[in-house]
Amino acid sequence: MSENRGNFGSKLGVVLASAGSAVGLGNIWRFPTEVGNNGGAAFILLYLVCVLFIGMPIMISEFVIGRHTHANTATAYQKLAPGKWWRVQGGMGVLVAFIIMCYYSVISGWTLYYAYASLAGMLSDGSMDFIVFFSDFVSNPVLPVCFAVLVMAMVHAIIVRGVQGGIEKFSKVMMPMLLLIICVLMVCAFSLPGSSAGLSFLLKPDFSKVTPATFLSAIGQAFFSLSLAMGCLCTYASYFRDDTNLVKTAASVSVIDTMVALLSGFIIFPAVFSVPGVEPEAGPGLVFMSLPYVFTQAFHALPWVGYIFSFLFYVLLFLAALTSAISIHEPVTAYLHEAHSMSRKKAAWCVSVVCMTLGVFCSLSNGVLSDFKIFGLTLIDAFDALPSKILLPVGGIIISLFTGWYLDKKLLYDELTNNGHLRFPFFKVYVFLLRWIIPVAIGFVFVAEMLKTLFGIELF
Ligand code: PHE
Repeated sequence: MSENRGNFGSKLGVVLASAGSAVGLGNIWRFPTEVGNNGGAAFILLYLVCVLFIGMPIMISEFVIGRHTHANTATAYQKLAPGKWWRVQGGMGVLVAFIIMCYYSVISGWTLYYAYASLAGMLSDGSMDFIVFFSDFVSNPVLPVCFAVLVMAMVHAIIVRGVQGGIEKFSKVMMPMLLLIICVLMVCAFSLPGSSAGLSFLLKPDFSKVTPATFLSAIGQAFFSLSLAMGCLCTYASYFRDDTNLVKTAASVSVIDTMVALLSGFIIFPAVFSVPGVEPEAGPGLVFMSLPYVFTQAFHALPWVGYIFSFLFYVLLFLAALTSAISIHEPVTAYLHEAHSMSRKKAAWCVSVVCMTLGVFCSLSNGVLSDFKIFGLTLIDAFDALPSKILLPVGGIIISLFTGWYLDKKLLYDELTNNGHLRFPFFKVYVFLLRWIIPVAIGFVFVAEMLKTLFGIELF
């Protein structure tokens, strides 16, 4: 099977495809607001520590598991731990990818609609109520569904073209485009009067805001942003060639992901702070309700610049979402293709159709189905909460324990050094982090989150 399952053709392709998975909505809306809410530069420092000591070791482990087995996530764990309960993590990776795909296509559809709306000039009127605009759109039974289907069709078209002809080729065009758009937007944002207030908001360390809860946010953000424990990077690594330097690739992906997150902050906050009366807030509220208003106001002297800025921003958001969506489709497609002997095309069709059907219900849960609740959550919120609150942290703990304790250390070392051709002087530190630090750190976050969600008990 491993002979004809396809490979990434170049090192650049490997890095750009993996970075495409990591760079997503988490970088552009989640990171800047986490920074703002958690003490600016102090949070950035903490975040960097989390990426270095928690995120990167787990990413390296996923790379080892994928590349060593050259198999989809579920089969990979089965090959490495036949008959052992560790195998559960393989199936869980596929399940997480499947669940996230269902609602991620809906949210990606929103970004595409906003790109279209800004191009059509629908977001150019500063006197419009953007909160009403957003809630009318998401509660509409037809429009968001159409855009979600459109996004899924694009993802599908890329996935069926295979690893090299689809994912790699597409990432090589999209990722440079994404970086270029970021640079253009940053120049525009810096040229705004009042932008320096945004910069100091982002860069001035406020250590008084750093509490244990800040640490929890930093770990959660690192996990989400680096696409860990979702089966994505493990599946991508199964297409790496044997001469791919796993440690260097993980470092490059982490650096690109962190850079994009920081640069997004440099785009959003100068713009937000140049408009009096707008408060930075988290999540969809910022991106879909506050920012359209900010763009009309910040550039009111030069409306055409605001028009282009707004359009490019939503294109950026869409591209970031699209490359992530592709990476979340692939683990499920590869699993059906390899473990259930379907052709790749048929497997991709199954994933696209089933995810889209569930996606339609997710979309409708913002409108006509909003009264249908699971544990008090609408369907789309439940599809988000199950992976992010439970499956991802548990998966992270299992991956680090699996590689730290169970996996043969010679196998691990040989994979990381490509059978002794490369040097990896931090091997012992890496194994120590996997065995002790990472499981304890994530376990701590998990318990704190659970107590808060289930019993309303705030530890900090
Ligand atoms: N890493 C992505 C981000 O930062 C998260 C993600 C990846 C979500 C893949 C879905 C699929 O937004």
